[in-house]
Amino acid sequence: MKPLTRREALTTLAVGGAALATGCATTPHPQSPGAAPAMATVPALAGSHTPLPLPFAASSLSGLSERLITSHHDNNYVGAVKNLNRVEQELAGLTADTPPFVVAALREKELTFRNSKSLHEAYFGNLGGDGRRSGGIEAALAQAYGSSGAWEQHFRATGLGLGGGSGWVVLALELDTGALRTAASTNHTQALANATPLLVLDMYEHSYQLDFGAAAAKYLEAFFANLKWDEVNRRFERAAKAAAALRAGG
Ligand SMILES: [Fe+2]
Repeated sequence: MKPLTRREALTTLAVGGAALATGCATTPHPQSPGAAPAMATVPALAGSHTPLPLPFAASSLSGLSERLITSHHDNNYVGAVKNLNRVEQELAGLTADTPPFVVAALREKELTFRNSKSLHEAYFGNLGGDGRRSGGIEAALAQAYGSSGAWEQHFRATGLGLGGGSGWVVLALELDTGALRTAASTNHTQALANATPLLVLDMYEHSYQLDFGAAAAKYLEAFFANLKWDEVNRRFERAAKAAAALRAGG
């Protein structure tokens, strides 16, 4: 009998261990070279997303009122999650007879509500702090922009450019290059491809109009004063690991 290679032996041990753990008897099959590692996936169109609660007390922010934060979360964010569920349920029911223009409209709305969900969760997730920038992201921003203050100037100017309208400003780590990008979008569907959001600013008027009217610059002051840089650093570390793994994989 041909002896097992080290890789085959390790695979056999791993499968055998899993069988022992589940109490099932299985026939071990060595993993084929180059096969993707097993990964749990979720249904593509379950239509059962659950809104996340605010990660801080709505009354705890400085300069952003409880009424504004609660309205933003309960109406805009939760509304997007509910709409995403409805759109996914509609898409799950597509048949060969569904008109292409209906599919096209549903796909556009799917992307709109999916990105709205993700970006709002990142936005609320990077609030609730004391606004003091530190850690690895501070050093990385200084390296990328000359100083982290210069990056902040870029980011604020980008936000002001969207004042009075709608959109998002996102600091993101580009996964294929490792670059820190500041990107703007005027709606939910212009996300930077192949990049992971690290810091997200909502510039839709609903995010500040109740407190500041049209004074977008005052909103930006309050936004920066409440930033939770620990969370931005946590996202940066995770994204940097993902980018390194992707680049190592060729
Ligand atoms: Fe929003």
